Amino acid sequence: MKTIIELISQRIADAIQKVTGQNISAIVTAATDPRFGDYQSNNALSLAKQLKANPRQLAEKIIAELMIDDICQTPEIAGAGFINLRLKSEFIKDYLSQIKNDTENFGIEKSEKSKTVVVDFSGPNIAKQMHVGHLRSTIIGDCICRMLSQAGSNVIPQNHIGDWGLQMGMLIAISDDLKQNNNSDVQHKLDTLENTYKLANQKFKDDPSFADKSRKSTYNLQNHEFSAINQWQNFRKITLDACNEIYKYLSVGLNDDNIRGESFYTDKLSAVVNDLKNAGLAVESEGAVCVFPEGFKTKEGNPMPFIIQKTDGAFLYATTDLAALRFRINELHADEIIYVTDARQKLHFEMLFKVAEIAGWKKNTKLVHVTFGSVLGEDGKPLKTRSGENVKLKELLDEAVKRAKQVVEDKNPDLPENEKEQIARAVGIGAVKYADYSNNRTSDYIFSFDKMLAMDGNTAPYMQYAYARVKSIGRKGQEKGIDTAKELSQLKEIILSEPAEFELAKQIIRYSEAFSIAISDFKPNFLTAYLYDLAGRFSAFYNACPVLDAEPNIRASRLLLCELTAQIIRHGLENLLGIKIIDRM
Ligand code: ARG
Repeated sequence: MKTIIELISQRIADAIQKVTGQNISAIVTAATDPRFGDYQSNNALSLAKQLKANPRQLAEKIIAELMIDDICQTPEIAGAGFINLRLKSEFIKDYLSQIKNDTENFGIEKSEKSKTVVVDFSGPNIAKQMHVGHLRSTIIGDCICRMLSQAGSNVIPQNHIGDWGLQMGMLIAISDDLKQNNNSDVQHKLDTLENTYKLANQKFKDDPSFADKSRKSTYNLQNHEFSAINQWQNFRKITLDACNEIYKYLSVGLNDDNIRGESFYTDKLSAVVNDLKNAGLAVESEGAVCVFPEGFKTKEGNPMPFIIQKTDGAFLYATTDLAALRFRINELHADEIIYVTDARQKLHFEMLFKVAEIAGWKKNTKLVHVTFGSVLGEDGKPLKTRSGENVKLKELLDEAVKRAKQVVEDKNPDLPENEKEQIARAVGIGAVKYADYSNNRTSDYIFSFDKMLAMDGNTAPYMQYAYARVKSIGRKGQEKGIDTAKELSQLKEIILSEPAEFELAKQIIRYSEAFSIAISDFKPNFLTAYLYDLAGRFSAFYNACPVLDAEPNIRASRLLLCELTAQIIRHGLENLLGIKIIDRM
């Protein structure tokens, strides 16, 4: 189904074509203030400037040609030349009944031509706990995958883990010191490994003979020496077991099949360097091999190097990313590659994309770097533990679940214990994810358990409660001897008359619009804002309009509004954001 904005835009574009002879795409947005109607176009303003015409007169001419009376009431011109549009109630009802029949997508259209999109996200490093920085990459990346699948793309998630290089050599070199660890808890195992790794890092700096041993181990690993490989596989497993546990906890769809870490590309790195050298793009500079892509300057104004091989022959993060990019384009046939990392890697990806372009490797593939801001503590500084360490993701999530348990305990002390646990988990994890999603992706945000677990405001518990509340109508109906499902299925004609019904209906039919805005710039906050607005309008409707006590012919229509509200909240939370819903709270 076309979104309402698409339908209206097309009509306006046609009218503009008739008036000016120009084929332009119309700009239509939801009205910011309901007094101005439902939708608004400011095309006349920009067009008038370009044509040196009077914007109001131009708007009048456009309206005169505008064929839109099957969708909107008579358009109005406001201010300097805005065109204000108000949906007709017939159109609202008709669109609503189409959504009712679109029981899987609620109006969201699948693209006809499925494109292949590689989404590179999460990317934890071996022997390190995931921390809050990985939280954002992991859940934003997962949401992007979910949105793309919803839109009909063929999505290939890639977990570009840091599992190669000198760090691995250090770990092997120190592993004689690594105590046998029989604790079966996977997070605990990773804890021990991480501590050993920190030790190795320190020793590497302090002790030249250990540094030598580490380099020797790195060499052994790179040459596939049996015992080195064996140890490396063990570190990798310990780390990935812990990561997988977190992915499951977070309802993130990553699994071992999605892992192509740095180690995967090792045999492709010298070809990257050679090909760039042969193309005359890579040159030796102070012993290292570098590409100097145009347009990048150091602070001092010199050409900025993209280093692909160090003086000692070692390859770098950049080299691996070039190899991965080639692999994704040539072997995975990506039409688009999306990298989800924090904003500090902005320059790296800008240079990577540029080098891929000048080398002719990019072909027609679209390359996108999706960045995000930092998670801050209540003091406004990057979230850290008291001792100044990164906050471990697992501990953060456990704490959220613990606090959510208290919320459930307060709200519904009589629930059976196992149900309380289950709800606490859905609410706690949901709260962390939702708080992240509801902030503008590119901004920093302050992490606050109290705020994210609040029952009012734009939070997961509020949305989960809203869902449970709508769902409870069916149960209440049963108690009153009303078969709501049957009434709904027998609904013939949608009847809307109260303003609160229209307000809710208009929000329901805008789901696909919110989706298309969210996916266009990979911004989940447009989904959360939409859902929050939906829940708010539902509340207003539910307060103003009796549902179960309404007359039978009106009741079925109101039940439909309830059902669609519940279904869309469920679809938004579960399918697009990966947040669990609960039937009661
Ligand atoms: N391992 C990296 C980190 O922890 C993230 C990897 C991002 N992906 C990539 N293709 N460079 O920062």
